[in-house]
Amino acid sequence: MKPKKEQNIVHVVSHPLVQHKLTLMRDIHCSTQNFRTLMNEIGMFLCYEVTRDLPVRHSDIVTPITPMSAPVMAGKKLVFAPILRAGLGFLEGMLQLVPSARVAHVGLYRNPETLEAVEYYFKAPSDLRDRLVIVLDPMLATGHSAIAAVDHLKKQGASDIRFACLLAAPEGLANMQACHPDVTIWTAAIDEKLNEHGYIVPGLGDAGDRMYGTK
Ligand code: URA
Repeated sequence: MKPKKEQNIVHVVSHPLVQHKLTLMRDIHCSTQNFRTLMNEIGMFLCYEVTRDLPVRHSDIVTPITPMSAPVMAGKKLVFAPILRAGLGFLEGMLQLVPSARVAHVGLYRNPETLEAVEYYFKAPSDLRDRLVIVLDPMLATGHSAIAAVDHLKKQGASDIRFACLLAAPEGLANMQACHPDVTIWTAAIDEKLNEHGYIVPGLGDAGDRMYGTK
C-alpha cells in the first residue's frame, strides 16, 4: 500500500527564464498578445518541471551508427485538466511537449460575492483512474476553484493528481493543503496575500481578462 502523504509539497520553479517571463506578464503594459505568448511559454517550462520525475523504460533502437538501448516515457498516460478559462493558457504549450496527452475541461467561475467556485462544465476521459492528471490554473488564489476541480476529478476516479499554476497565494496553498494534501503543486511564485476581492497581491490582475482582452 502506498504511504499516505501528510502534506502537499510545493515546488517553486525559480528558473531565471520563468522568472523573467513572469515579470513581463505582471507588468500592466504587457499586451494581450504578449501575455498569451508568455503564458504558453511558461506552460512549457512548468510541464517540463511537473513531469521531471516520470518513469522511463529502455527501448531497443538503431541509430545511424549502432544499435542502442535508449529511454522512452513509461508509466501512466497523462491528462491535462485546464480550469476554464485561464487554464487554457497553459494547455497548448503543454500539448506541444506531450502531444499524446488527453484533456479534461473543467468549467468553473468564481461567484464574485462569495468567491465560491461554481461549476458549469465538466468533460473528461473515462479512464481517469489509470492516468496522471495535471490540473492547470494560472492563479491559485483562494483555492476554491482548484479544490472543486480536484474534488470532481477524484469523484470521477482520478487518484494521481498534480497541480500547476503561475502564481499562488498563501491562502490558496493553505486551503489546498487542508482539502487535498496528496496533490503536489508547482508554481512560478508564491505572492504576498489576497486583497478583499480575492485577487492575488502583487499578482498580475485577472489572468483570463488579460489573456483574452476582455476588460
Ligand atoms: N484569478 C485571477 O485571475 N487573478 C487573481 O489575482 C486571482 C484569481
